[in-house]
Amino acid sequence: MKKKIVAKGSLYPKKTVTKKNTISKSGQISLNSYEVLLQNNKNWAAETIKQDPDFFHRLANVQKPEFLWIGCSDSRVPADRITGTQPGEIFVHRNIANMVVHTDLNLLAVLEYAVNHLHVKHIIVCGHYNCGGVKAAMGRHNLGIINKWVRNIKDVYRIHREEIDYQTKESEQLNRLIELNVQEQVMNLAKTSIIQKSWKEEQRPYLHGWVYSVDDGIIHPICEMGHDDHIDPLYEFDDL
Ligand code: CO
Repeated sequence: MKKKIVAKGSLYPKKTVTKKNTISKSGQISLNSYEVLLQNNKNWAAETIKQDPDFFHRLANVQKPEFLWIGCSDSRVPADRITGTQPGEIFVHRNIANMVVHTDLNLLAVLEYAVNHLHVKHIIVCGHYNCGGVKAAMGRHNLGIINKWVRNIKDVYRIHREEIDYQTKESEQLNRLIELNVQEQVMNLAKTSIIQKSWKEEQRPYLHGWVYSVDDGIIHPICEMGHDDHIDPLYEFDDL
């Protein structure tokens, strides 16, 4: 006879988490770290409505961002904060080391939606100096699945080895690889049928490669590509 499988407890997550707050000697309640986020959110929503009563109403049913941002997951590089943009202005995809991998279904779905449904005018690939993902690709440590994700960056290194090794300091080599990686990821966008078709039919979007400096908050433009630029014909579709 088959054993009956009985689920213990609820199959669904609890609606609210009831971890107790601590009360300090002075009687102040200290919130758990994640509760601070929820409190901040309430304050932000209230402040936003105070300054612009129509803000959420305007954004509730439609988004018309002009930009797609492909950035690193690094917590120090928040797309909207460093570009002074508001909710509704940038469509965002982030992953470790701002990669454009042609078999990444997540990236491709975001790209397809941004180009063909949101009709973005610009796509920005934004890396950042001192990127841990690129650093991992330069090293030889076993980091499990992370090695698989950053493997393509090793290829960028191999292609540009002479130029990177020309830098004397290790930090300069890393930062040059970060710039070249952004350039390669812009090229990877140009290799997709999504971009090539849109370039052919609508002469958009414009592609930008940027690198953000975590030291001073400044973004450095590295490269640009538009509909009249060409890539290696090996990657060009001739029947789109
Ligand atoms: Co990074």
